[in-house]
Amino acid sequence: MPPVTSHQSPQLIVALDVDTLEKATHFVDILYPTVKLFKVGSSLFPAWGTDVVRMVGKKGGRVFLDLKFLDIPNTVYSATASGTSSCIAVYSIPSGLDEKKTEDQVTKHLSSPVFMMTLHTLGSSEMLRKGVKGAEDEAAKQGIKKPLLVGVTVLTCEVADVEEVLKRACIAKEAGLDGVVCSAHEAAAVKEACGKDFLVVAPGIRPKGYKTDDQKRKATAQEAIAAGADFIVVGRPILEAQDPRKAAEDILKELS
Ligand code: C5P
Repeated sequence: MPPVTSHQSPQLIVALDVDTLEKATHFVDILYPTVKLFKVGSSLFPAWGTDVVRMVGKKGGRVFLDLKFLDIPNTVYSATASGTSSCIAVYSIPSGLDEKKTEDQVTKHLSSPVFMMTLHTLGSSEMLRKGVKGAEDEAAKQGIKKPLLVGVTVLTCEVADVEEVLKRACIAKEAGLDGVVCSAHEAAAVKEACGKDFLVVAPGIRPKGYKTDDQKRKATAQEAIAAGADFIVVGRPILEAQDPRKAAEDILKELS
């Protein structure tokens, strides 16, 4: 399972906003390997939790676990630790490795399907710092890479001013998060304020001419990338398309 890092070209994450494991599996079957990153959030997780994370991992995809943690610091510590070790498994044993693998050899190839998680920046700085610590401690314990942690600023279905998003991005950066979720409209300002390595994850992506749905701060994939987004999150424009794979391919063309 290849690592997902902050220094790659922009990547597409498809939001698996469906209500059953069966429907989620259907979309991953259609979309993988055109799409390798899938968002699992509140539509699926309460009922299907780790089953859906494991399903994506087994098929070779990676999971953006978007549960927007907002709680007391101690609970958020446990939440990010739990997300880090979620469905950890041996996903790739290099060819040539002895079948009777030593524990050490196996441990080196442990990984979690979860490559990124969200915390809500409405939480206190202490909560965000404890969230980072939870993921770090668990990753060190398991001998795996810490998942990326990004802070939700203002939902793209809401009207927001750039200053509010920037304030929350700065709080997230100071607390040690790897980036934030914001709309493409604030992406350039966040990069300027927090540095080019601070990740921007942009939902609210709508192809030209596609209906707005409930998104207020929307942009095309091309606009999001031009503004500096590292990841774009797309749900309905792909899930509701007559040909979801073609819809994903069209968005990927914009990214390249
Ligand atoms: O269907 P659509 O493309 O609007 O889906 C956008 C996805 O991004 C949803 O899964 C939503 O939960 C998520 N999201 C968002 N705004 C944020 C954070 C996440 O729309 N700020």
